[in-house]
Amino acid sequence: MRVLGILGSPRPFGGSSQLLRCALLGAQEEGLETALFSVYGGEIRPCQGCIQDEEPNCKYPCIFEDYGKKLITEIYHAEAIIFATPIYWYGPSGQLKNLIDRLTCLENMVAYGEPSYMEGKVVGIITVGADAGLTLTGGYLLTALNAMGAIIPPWAHAYSRRADHALEDSRAVMDAINVGLLVAGLAKILRGQKGTISYRDDANLRERIRLKILKEKEEFEAQHDQK
Ligand SMILES: Cc1cc2nc3c(=O)[nH]c(=O)nc-3n(C[C@H](O)[C@H](O)[C@H](O)COP(=O)(O)O)c2cc1C
Repeated sequence: MRVLGILGSPRPFGGSSQLLRCALLGAQEEGLETALFSVYGGEIRPCQGCIQDEEPNCKYPCIFEDYGKKLITEIYHAEAIIFATPIYWYGPSGQLKNLIDRLTCLENMVAYGEPSYMEGKVVGIITVGADAGLTLTGGYLLTALNAMGAIIPPWAHAYSRRADHALEDSRAVMDAINVGLLVAGLAKILRGQKGTISYRDDANLRERIRLKILKEKEEFEAQHDQK
C-alpha cells in the first residue's frame, strides 16, 4: 500500500516540502511505503477540456504524453495521496492546479459506466503561505478531490503561515505528521487492516521527525550551496 506525496512548490525544501516530508514520515510510522513527486519535475500541460467534446471524450489515460500523465499514473496506482502546496494568490500553485484539472480523466470514467478511478483513495492536504488563503486553499482542494470520489479522514488538513520556516511551527509539524498518520490509518482500515484514525499529540514523535527533516534540509542546502 502506497502513500504518494505530491509537492506543489518549485522549491525542493520550502515550507510545503518540509511539512509534506513530515506527513510522509507520519505515514511510514503506520507502516506504509511512501514516495514524493514534485509537480515541477516536468511539463504538465493544461487540461484542454475534451470532456466537453463528442469524440474523443475524456478518459484514463489522458491524451497528453507529458510529465502530467506520469503523475496521473502514479496517483492511479496509489491508495492514498497527500497534496502539499504553497499559497499563490489565495489558491494552489498553477502547476498543481493543472494537475488537479488533469485528474478529470480519472473521475470521468463514470461516463463509461465504471466507478471514478479516484473513488476510495484517501487524501490529505498541506498548505503553506506567508499571509492569507491557507484554509481557503485547503478547503478548495479537499472539496475538489472529494467530488472526484476521494475519501477524507479527520484532521486531513495541516497548514502554516510561517512560509519556509514551517518546520519551526510546532503545531503545523504535529498536524502534518497527523495528516500522514491518519491518511495511512484510514487507507489501512478501508482495506481490511488494523489502522488508527485518532489525532496523536506526541512531542517525542514530533521532535524526532522535525529533526530528521531539518537534517535532510541542511544536507540539501549544503549540497546545493544555498541557505
Ligand atoms: C506568486 C505568489 C503568490 C503568493 N500569494 C500568497 C497568498 O495569497 N497568500 C499567502 O499567504 N502567501 C502567498 N505567497 C507566499 C508563499 O505562499 C510563501 O512564500 C510560501 O512559503 C511558499 O511555499 P514554499 O516555501 O513551499 O515554496 C505567494 C508567493 C508567490 C510566489
